[in-house]
Amino acid sequence: MDKIAIRGGNRLSGRVRVGGAKNAALPLMCASLLTEGTLTLSNLPRLADITTLMRLLVQHGVEMNMDGDESCRAAGRQGLTIGMDATGVNNTTAPYDLVRKMRASVLVLGPLLARFGNARVSLPGGCAIGTRPVDLHLKGLQHLGAEIDLDQGYIVAKAPNGLQGGEVVFPFVSVGATENLMMAATLAKGTTRLVNAAREPEVTDLGECLIRMGAKISGLGTDTLEIEGVSGLHGAEHPVIPDRIETASLAMAAAVTRGEIDLIDARPDHLGSAIEAMEAAGINFSPIEGGLRVSCNELVGTDVMTEPYPGFPTDLQAQMMALLTTASGASMITESIFENRFMHVPELMRMGANINLHGRSAMVRGVERLTGAEVMATDLRASMSLVIAGLAAEGETLVNRVYHLDRGYERLEEKLSACGADITRIKEQS
Ligand code: EPZ
Repeated sequence: MDKIAIRGGNRLSGRVRVGGAKNAALPLMCASLLTEGTLTLSNLPRLADITTLMRLLVQHGVEMNMDGDESCRAAGRQGLTIGMDATGVNNTTAPYDLVRKMRASVLVLGPLLARFGNARVSLPGGCAIGTRPVDLHLKGLQHLGAEIDLDQGYIVAKAPNGLQGGEVVFPFVSVGATENLMMAATLAKGTTRLVNAAREPEVTDLGECLIRMGAKISGLGTDTLEIEGVSGLHGAEHPVIPDRIETASLAMAAAVTRGEIDLIDARPDHLGSAIEAMEAAGINFSPIEGGLRVSCNELVGTDVMTEPYPGFPTDLQAQMMALLTTASGASMITESIFENRFMHVPELMRMGANINLHGRSAMVRGVERLTGAEVMATDLRASMSLVIAGLAAEGETLVNRVYHLDRGYERLEEKLSACGADITRIKEQS
């Protein structure tokens, strides 16, 4: 397994381009199952999770066409361009082997059921950050008339006469359930209302792509979505939005070194209250042409609680904690979305951080300096927090299990070293 070695202390400075958002790209790719037309997505990030989902879609019978990619690259456009043609889908089963690798695979359920009237999708199981059930996805689909059974670890869903519009009131906000239901409802008979829907920019991006494909959706960006079912969708072209989590992660990487970087393609309007939390911690943001300038002279403690968008995202909690380990004063970080998303705490403490955990809250008292250590990445965002800590630490930090990082951060070590970080990948000896 590859490792990442970081020698901390270098002040970051330079320009980095933010890639396409993984969490927007994955549902968008699943939307290709809704039509016989070709859905061409551009600005897809080149990440392990994208490859895993491509593999899943191909085994359903989707044809992947990368022809447009060459011309996009020639035109200097970054990111991957893929045309997806789901005309020949001949298999509505999503097998355990692929789903267990990536939970977002469950997003094929809504589209397969809506277009083919049946789907058999493996239950994803738990993961490092929590149990993560999919009950809201299933109850929502049942509200639209689906019959759902669980059989040998699989969700078996049927709607032989098609789905029927209805009102789904989510008891709490779920990004994935909102996306699965929104996709399914586009082909249902009649109108569907999703109440207490997720408002994340990735959900809005999916909605905008579905509208380009002929769907009738209103209320995007609010907590109530109305979807009027249509008899069919057509192909479309859609660029994936820039990754807000990568944006903020890179901002924090620069800030922890008291550096200054320009984030090209960053969308500050997608950062929600994360921008205020980072400002409260001492990070300065100023708009520049085509992006955002980030700088920091001094870090100060601040309190943060994770919440659905536009609140502070759980996907930035670990990075924010790493940032605050060297801030002056204390910070209280509360995780309200996932029950087990503090796996980075013991690793940060091995680097000298002063953190006390009390249930879902962590009290971080700023220390003078962190020291490099060999640490273990436990999930994607925890990995990034260890990289941020490593950039600030004295001496060498060795981050193990880098495959987590590769699921969600494209060429991270290249981007950071281009800004002056001393960071290298140590390839696995085969
Ligand atoms: C999405 O996961 C993201 N993944 C996650 O990003 C992110 O952490 C999460 O939203 C929250 O923002 C993708 O977009 C591919 P949820 P999702 O349904 O949709 C509970 C990353 O690091 N819940 O909004 O699976 C659930 O257990 C990842 O990139 C149920 O109880 O998250 C959690 O506590 C990790 N039943 C909460 O709701 C359900 O049926 C929110 O989960 C569904 C969810």
